[in-house]
Amino acid sequence: MTSYGELAEVYEWLISDAKLVPAEFAASFDDVLDLLPSNAHVLDCSCGTGQLAVGIAGRGMQVVATDASEAMVRRTAELAEEHRASVRTVWADWQELPDHFDDDTFDMVFCVGNSLHHAVGARGRAAALESMSRLLRPRGRLVLTSRTWELVRSRGSRLDVGDRLISRNGRDGMVVYWWEIAPHWEDEHHIEIAIAEVAKDNSVLVHSERLSSWPYRYVDLVSELERVGLEVETSTFDPEAENYTVVAIRV
Ligand SMILES: C[S@@+](CC[C@H](N)C(=O)[O-])C[C@H]1O[C@@H](n2cnc3c(N)ncnc32)[C@H](O)[C@@H]1O
Repeated sequence: MTSYGELAEVYEWLISDAKLVPAEFAASFDDVLDLLPSNAHVLDCSCGTGQLAVGIAGRGMQVVATDASEAMVRRTAELAEEHRASVRTVWADWQELPDHFDDDTFDMVFCVGNSLHHAVGARGRAAALESMSRLLRPRGRLVLTSRTWELVRSRGSRLDVGDRLISRNGRDGMVVYWWEIAPHWEDEHHIEIAIAEVAKDNSVLVHSERLSSWPYRYVDLVSELERVGLEVETSTFDPEAENYTVVAIRV
């Protein structure tokens, strides 16, 4: 399983300036968050370093943040403490979520930041989406963001080197992605991510991790959502754009 054990410590270099600030990350989802009552129950089921969960908690909502990576869950708990935000953190894979929460618990579930491709193949994805659907109350919403994998696959295997140094916590780093595209959609793909941190004396420290990925086509995702009782309400999918957001309602 994808662990993010190495990347959790340097994850700041992988996210945009706006996503680093919890309130700003949450504000990027104003259109859906504004549909919720102020005491709504919200789950971020791939919380990463916790900026979204902490930002939503800052609005007074009841937030639970879960992730399959223990290191990510720890970072989320630390961020919540730093911001004095009330966020319950649980270390759990998507498929384990029903062991921790009753069905119909949440008004909204977030699975954002290009996380779902880590589910192991179509079966793993179906099981993950099934868990998310079960935990939503009827008419609750799943908010999912995704890379446009059709575009990623069409470019083939390639090296993607950042065009500038990114500064985080007073440290400069260069981000490099190695996209290893497998022959078939259903095969396991890999993405190796390296952050080359450049110290003041010009020495370089590299943090890297090879992640497993099972990309999917948009049309398949829509069918998979429908199969677990989630009906697409809005979608920004555009085959030419790099990313899209799908909001699906539990019917
Ligand atoms: C690209 S990061 C996105 C993190 C965060 N949502 C964001 O927007 O920055 C993907 C996250 O998905 C988590 N993840 C991967 N596989 C998972 C699984 N099977 N169950 C739950 N979380 C998983 C990873 O640990 C990681 O934190």
